[in-house]
Parts: sequence; structure tokens; C-alpha cells
Amino acid sequence: MRTLGIDLGTTYSVVATLDEHGRPIVLRNPLGEETTASVVCFESATSILVGSAARNAAPAYPDRTVALIKRQMGTDRLLSFDGVEYTPEAVSALILRALVDGVLPGRQPDQPVRAVVTVPAYFGIREREATQQACLLAGIDTLELVSEPVAAAVHYGFSETVGLGTAVVFDLGGGTFDATVLTLGGRIQVVATDGDTELGGADWDRRLVSHMLDQFTAQVRPDTDPGDDEVFMSELELAAERAKRALSTTAVQRVPLWYAGRGATITISRADFEAATRDLVDSASQCLRRLLAAAGRAGVSEVDHCLLVGGSSRMPMIAATLADEFGWQPRLFDPDLAVAKGAALRAHQILRMPVSEKTWAPRPRRAAEAPGGADISARGPVPTLGGPAAEPDPPAGATGLAAHPVAAVVARGLGPLVHDSHDKSGQRRYVWHVVHQNDPLPVVDRQITLATILDGQASIRIEVYEQAGAVESAEVDDNRLVLDGELSGLPPGLPAGSPIQLTLRIGLDGRLSLVATEPKSGAALTIEACIDGVLDGSGRERAARSLAGLAVRQ
Ligand SMILES: Nc1ncnc2c1ncn2[C@@H]1O[C@H](COP(=O)(O)OP(=O)(O)OP(=O)(O)O)[C@@H](O)[C@H]1O
Ligand SMILES: [Mg+2]
Repeated sequence: MRTLGIDLGTTYSVVATLDEHGRPIVLRNPLGEETTASVVCFESATSILVGSAARNAAPAYPDRTVALIKRQMGTDRLLSFDGVEYTPEAVSALILRALVDGVLPGRQPDQPVRAVVTVPAYFGIREREATQQACLLAGIDTLELVSEPVAAAVHYGFSETVGLGTAVVFDLGGGTFDATVLTLGGRIQVVATDGDTELGGADWDRRLVSHMLDQFTAQVRPDTDPGDDEVFMSELELAAERAKRALSTTAVQRVPLWYAGRGATITISRADFEAATRDLVDSASQCLRRLLAAAGRAGVSEVDHCLLVGGSSRMPMIAATLADEFGWQPRLFDPDLAVAKGAALRAHQILRMPVSEKTWAPRPRRAAEAPGGADISARGPVPTLGGPAAEPDPPAGATGLAAHPVAAVVARGLGPLVHDSHDKSGQRRYVWHVVHQNDPLPVVDRQITLATILDGQASIRIEVYEQAGAVESAEVDDNRLVLDGELSGLPPGLPAGSPIQLTLRIGLDGRLSLVATEPKSGAALTIEACIDGVLDGSGRERAARSLAGLAVRQ
């Protein structure tokens, strides 16, 4: 069975594996590209394009092309083409399927593939669960969802001689921004994480598009608004992205544009571009300050290395801001490929992990360890998932992995909705966070005691909310519903006020699970719940049927 590391990016995705010496290598798609555009074009009812082909088709099929779908993961957004509705999970599954088929040509449909798939560290429960569903739909046996900066750090730990120290991984990709403080050394341990799932290269592109549109309109004075023309705008978006990249190495770009028979060449300077996007850099700086404060609270106040990953961190304004405002000397570290390579390393690390390392069993923390993070060190040669490997397993020593296990933290605070009936002004509803941002993962047994309200109550409604903003708040509106369900099977005849024990667990990959019991009888209760905005089992079956008939071309 093939083992892959997949960086499922907002704008570009990458697939890596390990070579026979245990070194991470990127697998190229059928066009010979290392990165595949995360774009899908639904060109007909039976055929779709993925990657560069879809991106290039966008001006011709603007209303049939889907980009930035990662930003919709965990929402109930539906896209409709040729009378079929597609969820964000389904569109992501099409990208994943094209990625895997593209790098493993000739693979039979029944030949399984196992992979570590990366997600932004700042992804919450819904987005992680949606990513997991997308992998299932694509027929991928997911070994783990690993945080993108952790994957980058695993690759860094592998490829560099890293001494003990602390690193900030600044990951500015196409759609998301993640900032993570980790300690490097015998193990890679996340100390704190912060970020913004709505901040990435696509936002710089939008600013540039609007700047270029203004300039063009001022020069050409067209009779109709080119901003309303989907084809012109689609071409302008491609031109803006190209100009943005070029401005990372040149001071001025000249871009010819045509609309309704009139043309003009507009000039964009790096200084203008930087001025038009200053507030975006400021948002990233703000995240970093929160991150450093959280790291400080966890006892880590010095930063030894600053690693820049993600294609957008190539913009000179990023390194300049980090040097000016934080006094760091940032280093670009394999910005397009580090995450996928780290995921491939992590996949092989997991396959060498003893079974017990992947369970919920708490592990004792040694006094010398930095706070935050449970040890999941790779210790044994016990492959635990899937069948025998078809490709040779790289030697453990060669990968250097035993020296670089990882530990992660919770991205966002989490807890149940509580109704407080003692408040005289009426019933107050608030979220009681029992898990906090930057708590070490896994969260093994967070106990919550609920109480029945009525005599002989047969079931209890349970809602779990997750912090939506940058900081934890008990106000319901500052949180978002992640789990909505019902506990049933309560023993008959329970008096009102009987306690019900709910145990909340979050796995190493940030995924949530619940167990409920009635403590007197010890009866396990049935939980019927769904993660809000995510496909359930029957939704997945429906989606699988609609994807089955689509031929994918790259
Ligand atoms: N030289 C460059 N200068 C500026 N931006 C660049 C450059 N090269 C790539 N980018 C931008 O980097 C982004 C892609 O980076 P990357 O592939 O790391 O993101 P992603 O993995 O798709 O997104 P995410 O990690 O947010 O999900 C795009 O917005 C692209 O325009
Ligand atoms: Mg990325």
C-alpha cells in the first residue's frame, strides 16, 4: 500500500512520500508539476477538470469553476452544477482523488492509499471533521490529520541539524494564516498556536484586483463596468496573482489589460501594493502578538528560529515586518513543499508507532518537559494500520524520525451550552469552556456533569460550542455550534436533577468524540449527534454516488 503525505491547500496542493533512503520527495502530477492548483471546473455533467486545467478554464467557465473550497469546509454551503448538489467535502474529495490518481498512475480503484493529510493548526472541530469526510469520500485511509506548521517543523527537524530551541512557524498560504510556537529538539512540541482561516494570499490577490480595476477604469473610462464582466474579472484575477508573485522580486510590474475592445497597460509598484495590503500584514502581526502572549503564559518567551512557510510568505513585506516589529531573522524554509514533505515523514512515523500511542490512554508527563503537549514519541516498529506496504519501508534510522516525534495543542476553546435558570432576569444561556485554546492534545477525559430537569426524563439535548473569535468568551454569539445531539437510553424513573456524566475527548488530530453515562446505574447512554455543517454517513453515501460518475481530467 502506498503511504503519502498530502498538503491539501486552499490554492495549491502537494503530495509527497519517502524515497528508498527514507528522504521525503514530492510526487509530480501528470503535467510534471510539484504543486497542483486546488481548483475544480465542472465542465459537464460527467466530466470535471482539476488543477491547472481547471484554473486555465476559469475565464471560459467562470460560473462552473470552484476555487478556495478549503475556506468553506465545515459550512453547509452547497454548490450546484447540472442539477447535482456538491458539498465542500465532495469538492475537496474530487481534488484529493485527482491528486492521488495523478501521482499514482495506473492505480486500481480498489487499491487503498493511506496518508497523513494536513490541516491549518487553527482549524476547528467542524473543518477537521469535514476534511476527514473528504478523505473518506476520496477513498483515502487517513492515518492522521496533522497541523500544517507541525508538518513543516517535522520536515525542518529532519532536514536540518536542529539544536534545542524554540521556533515560530509563520505559515501564510493561499487561504489561511497559521502561526505556531514550537520547541525543537528531541521532540517537536507545540507550545501555542493562533491564526486566521480567512487570511491568505487570496486576500492580497483581491486587493490587487481591485487596485488594478480602479487603475484600468480610470485610464480607459469604459462605457460599462468591467467589474460586472465575469470573463474580464476572471482574467484579471489570474493577471493579478501573476503580478503579485512578480512583485516579490521586482519593484514594478506592467500589466496589459483589454476590455470591450479597449486596452491599457497599467503599472503597479511594490510600494503601492504594500500600501494597499498593509492592514492584512497588521492582522498577521496581531495574531503573532496573541501567540507570543500565549507562549509566554506557557513559559516560553524566547524565539530562536523563525521559519517562513506557505507561498505568500515570499512577499518581502512579510520578512520585513517580522524583522522590524519582532526583531527576528526569518528564514524561508521550502515554502511550497515543506508541509507535504513533513506529512510524508509523519505518516511513516505513525506507522512505526505502537498501538497504545494512538489510543486515549493518558501518558505521564515528565517534570522537565515544557508545558503543553503529551508525548506521542515513536518507539516501536509496529505498523498498526492497513496491510503490508507495497513500497519498501524506509529504515527508521534513515528517516531520523525517532528523534522527532510531535505533540500538538487544542486550536480553540470548546464546551457545552449551559442554561442557568438561577438568573432572575430569565434563563441565561452561556458556553462553559471545559477545553481551552492551547491545552495539550490529546484531551483525554474532560468530565461534564449535566442534570435532568424532569422526573422520568428519557433523553437530554446536548450542544457543544467552539470558540469562534480570537479569544474565549462565554457569550453564545461569540461561539459556534459544533455538535448538536441527543442523549437517550436514560434509565426509567430517574428523578429530576439526576446527574448525567458526559466525557469529552479530543484526539491528537483535534477531532472530537463524546461518551455519556448515567453514574448510578453505570448505563452507557446512546448519543445521536452530528457535527454541524459536516456530512453525516448518509450524506456521504449520497455524495459518493454523485462523484462516482464523474471522470476527472488534469
Ligand atoms: N513569489 C510569490 N510571491 C507572492 N506570493 C506567492 C509567491 N508564490 C506563491 N505565492 C502565493 O502563495 C499562495 C500559495 O501558497 P501555498 O501553496 O503555500 O498555499 P496553500 O497551501 O494553497 O494555502 P493554505 O496553506 O492557506 O491552505 C498563493 O496565494 C500564491 O499566489
Ligand atoms: Mg498550505
